[in-house]
Amino acid sequence: MKKVVLAYSGGLDTSCIVKWLRDKGYQVVCFVADLGQGLGRGEDFKAIEKRALAAGATKVYIKDLQDEFIEDFILPALKANAIYEGKYLLATALGRPLIAKHLVHLAHKEKADGIAHGCTGKGNDQVRLEVTAGILDPKLEVLAPVREWEFKSREEEIEYAMLHNIPIDVTKKKPYSIDRNIWGISIEAGVLEDLEQEPPEDAYLITKSPTHMASYPKYLEIYFEKGVPKKIDGKSYKLKSLITHLNEVGGLCGVGRVDMVENRLVGIKSREIYEAPAGTILYIAHKELESLVLDRELAHFKEIVSLKYSELIYYGLWYSPLKQALDGFVEETQKHVTGSIKVKLSKGACVVVGRKSPYSLYKKELSTYGKEDKFDQRLSEGFIKIWGMPYKR
Ligand code: ARG
Repeated sequence: MKKVVLAYSGGLDTSCIVKWLRDKGYQVVCFVADLGQGLGRGEDFKAIEKRALAAGATKVYIKDLQDEFIEDFILPALKANAIYEGKYLLATALGRPLIAKHLVHLAHKEKADGIAHGCTGKGNDQVRLEVTAGILDPKLEVLAPVREWEFKSREEEIEYAMLHNIPIDVTKKKPYSIDRNIWGISIEAGVLEDLEQEPPEDAYLITKSPTHMASYPKYLEIYFEKGVPKKIDGKSYKLKSLITHLNEVGGLCGVGRVDMVENRLVGIKSREIYEAPAGTILYIAHKELESLVLDRELAHFKEIVSLKYSELIYYGLWYSPLKQALDGFVEETQKHVTGSIKVKLSKGACVVVGRKSPYSLYKKELSTYGKEDKFDQRLSEGFIKIWGMPYKR
């Protein structure tokens, strides 16, 4: 009997997949990755395990990957200022290579023939999982039942689940497709497919509506060391609790909502909304600190790198040679990214209002218009002549 390791979420799709693969003659080992999808509220992993076993899994692995996710995926992305098409902080996209890596490891440990996932054939995630698995072990078989099975609707899947006594929660009507982890939430489908409509308030899970919010702002001072966030308001945090804290505070202030139409890898444009309070605050603060400590040429070049870096994440090329090479560049840029950024959170906005760094390249005696001015304005005349020389006819 062939054996596969399935990336299992506990939802309807992957639960039906367990049974479906069993019927096709596979032994199914389920792998549940904890990337912080409970978002501080905790996920009921015991119930998920029970459901997997009830659906026919022979074994269930549940792994807390949050620290690895933060250290090896979120941090490099933060240092690179990775943001896809100027809006999406890539929470879902960053999680996939990590899940794929562990799927491959487990497949080896379990001496399985392949891996399986519940992604649809229209999305980016199938690409990210399969490309990553293919890089890590090209010999493993990959099964994507949703791309080929007979079910045409959610209702048919529910019927199948009921028929086979798979304990799924059908009472909860699911109007959206949601993916969540500690770096953010991705929400699509349902009414969101109507591009002209504002997303209904109930689509958002962790951010309060900025509209009905008290107008008093919340100030935070975030301290970074070599590009890594370390403290909030002078208090040291481990990264996981720092992100969790910023998700809470930012969420209460309505920070981190995004409504966008994005270009998928498979050529489709799709509308998705995102919530990433911590990611948004950290991205803004980190970028601001860089503008203080990086010289102009490095800062400008880094923007080009950011753009490419975010594409590589989105395209599922985390383990590609280019991504690895860019990591070397990004890490080098972070050696002076130390200092504090003060942000003001209010009614959905996160605005930088103060900054300081021991490596600041800002020289007040040069930029001031006051009497302490040390800039020798006479030098500019010659500079301008030479700078503009090539363009004079
Ligand atoms: N569009 C995002 C991406 O490709 C998120 C995909 C998953 N979204 C979801 N709602 N299930 O990274």
